[in-house]
Amino acid sequence: MDFGNESVLVTGAAGFIGSHVSIRLLGLGAKVVGIDNFDPYYARELKDHNLKMVDEAGGDFVFKQMDICDTQSLESLMKAEGVTGVVHLAAKAGVRPSIEDPVGYSLHNVVGTQSVLTAASSAGCKRVSAASSSSVYGNNEKAPFSEEDSVEHPISPYAATKRSCELIGETHYQLTRLPVAMLRFFTVFGPGQRPDLAIRLFLNKIGRGDTITMFGDGSMSRDFTYIDDIVAGVLASYEKIDEHGYRIWNLGSDHPMELHKLISTVAEVVGKEAIIDQQPMQPGDVNRTWADLARSKSELGYGATTSIRDGIAKQWEWMQSNVELIHKAGG
Ligand SMILES: NC(=O)c1ccc[n+]([C@@H]2O[C@H](COP(=O)([O-])OP(=O)(O)OC[C@H]3O[C@@H](n4cnc5c(N)ncnc54)[C@H](O)[C@@H]3O)[C@@H](O)[C@H]2O)c1
Repeated sequence: MDFGNESVLVTGAAGFIGSHVSIRLLGLGAKVVGIDNFDPYYARELKDHNLKMVDEAGGDFVFKQMDICDTQSLESLMKAEGVTGVVHLAAKAGVRPSIEDPVGYSLHNVVGTQSVLTAASSAGCKRVSAASSSSVYGNNEKAPFSEEDSVEHPISPYAATKRSCELIGETHYQLTRLPVAMLRFFTVFGPGQRPDLAIRLFLNKIGRGDTITMFGDGSMSRDFTYIDDIVAGVLASYEKIDEHGYRIWNLGSDHPMELHKLISTVAEVVGKEAIIDQQPMQPGDVNRTWADLARSKSELGYGATTSIRDGIAKQWEWMQSNVELIHKAGG
């Protein structure tokens, strides 16, 4: 695909993954139309910084503050900017807070996704790649998790909203023939990672010599995926979805790591000892995630190329060069 001919609407462009995807698209010559509603889940300073990075990447970048639930404005914007396709990443992210705010999560994630798809069809867009999540697998016994596995038992409102988005995407494709890719991201990390996620929290706290909280006995494991690999997978799905119509793809690393090993790896990178306060597992947290990448390898040519240790080192380097920003944003 020649991205030079694409005008891509990126929802959640001020967020962690959205800003990285936008920078890559601009680098490939695409026009990027970014939208975000600056959800207050984490500090505005970090989102402003992300947008500044996108702006400084150069290229044809337009940004509008907009809520994805406003279908009319979305459609008008898409028409005005000649949008050819959508990378839909806007969502209320985070598992634990969804238990406190299931209504807000349903609204922004489920209604919001339907709104994006409806506007995309009305505006004549050609394709949509959207974020789902590994959390849809719940506490499935069989691992690694394959796209063919049953996902009938999500264990958090967040996971249920992401599974709902997948169903909405499939129905929308059946009714309109607008190709829709649903991407099951497995815990994403790297420079600019969301401040509520484990690696960022651990780097910050271990770096300052503070105590970190470890939920569970340390045997919980996650398939951590470096941001550049996720970006490559998102773009590959955007290029390939026309061949499939509707398709779900896992984007993970196929190298799950247990929490205690993650903590020792972070401590090693920082060069300090980790002081650990062990607390019970939190409701909504799954025991493990592990991506089966057979489908995304064969259909997208996807593969994870950055090891967790190297990725953590790059994230730590980013945090050290943005100490003031991180301090202002509250960690
Ligand atoms: N980061 C991960 O590990 C991970 C894992 C699985 C899935 N995901 C999914 O990937 C996507 C991006 O995640 P992220 O980590 O970059 O999160 P993020 O919170 O950094 O980015 C999401 C952005 O969406 C915006 N947003 C929220 N509701 C909106 C609305 N109604 N209208 C417009 N903008 C809105 C937020 O302001 C935020 O900037 C999300 O859909 C998330 O659920 C992320």
